[in-house]
Amino acid sequence: MQDMLEIKDVSKTFKVKSGDVTAVDGVSFRARKGEVTVILGPSGSGKTTLLYLVGSLESPDGGEIEVFGEDICRPGMDLIQYRRKRVGFVFQFFNLITALTALENVTLPMDLADDPYSLQDERAVELLGRMGIDTRLQKAKANKMSGGEKQRVAIARALANDPDIILADEPTGNLDTATGKVVVEILVDLARKDGKCVIIVTHDESILEAADWAYRMEDGKLTGIDTGA
Ligand SMILES: Nc1ncnc2c1ncn2[C@@H]1O[C@H](COP(=O)(O)OP(=O)(O)OP(=O)(O)O)[C@@H](O)[C@H]1O
Ligand SMILES: [Mg+2]
Repeated sequence: MQDMLEIKDVSKTFKVKSGDVTAVDGVSFRARKGEVTVILGPSGSGKTTLLYLVGSLESPDGGEIEVFGEDICRPGMDLIQYRRKRVGFVFQFFNLITALTALENVTLPMDLADDPYSLQDERAVELLGRMGIDTRLQKAKANKMSGGEKQRVAIARALANDPDIILADEPTGNLDTATGKVVVEILVDLARKDGKCVIIVTHDESILEAADWAYRMEDGKLTGIDTGA
């Protein structure tokens, strides 16, 4: 199906001095456009690794990752384009370039994707405006911003190249409860209103309320949770 991300029996083992660590162990799940999928799990359960596999920042040892009908692990797959144009990442520690302004943080991925220079500022201003980052803040350096502002800039950056998939790794982990709620609402809107496929990994049980589909991850293994959605 074209609107579905399908992860089939994916595994990833890291070789470390003390032995092998199987971070992701035969994981299968589906995520759709227009829906929010939440993966809950404690520290070390493999959440970040799973997200990195979907975003192709890591490659799996086995299994299949099919993105809207395309196997991203096949030989010849243009993973650079995939990372630049199809997925947007949101991180716990925002990962903004602190010496750049909010606006520059959002135009940077457009530059990397070779977007026409003349359109970049306009689009970045629009995205930041939508995230509630006003004209003054757009020109502020990222290191001068509050956590909530940084995360909203980071979401605008994730949207820079209009990806189908938003991968959010503990997006509320560094925010107070109220600010975290705002960020989750933004992510939900991106699914419901913009039709993005949103995947959130977290240890924060309260994010389950936002989920259309939810899973629990433990020791690299995934099990479904009934959200009643
Ligand atoms: N690059 C790596 N090299 C070696 N081991 C790794 C690497 N990345 C992750 N691991 C190991 O894989 C396991 C899963 O790590 P991962 O970061 O995916 O967990 P997590 O659920 O995101 O944890 P947290 O909630 O603390 O962020 C851990 O045991 C971790 O030490
Ligand atoms: Mg993690």
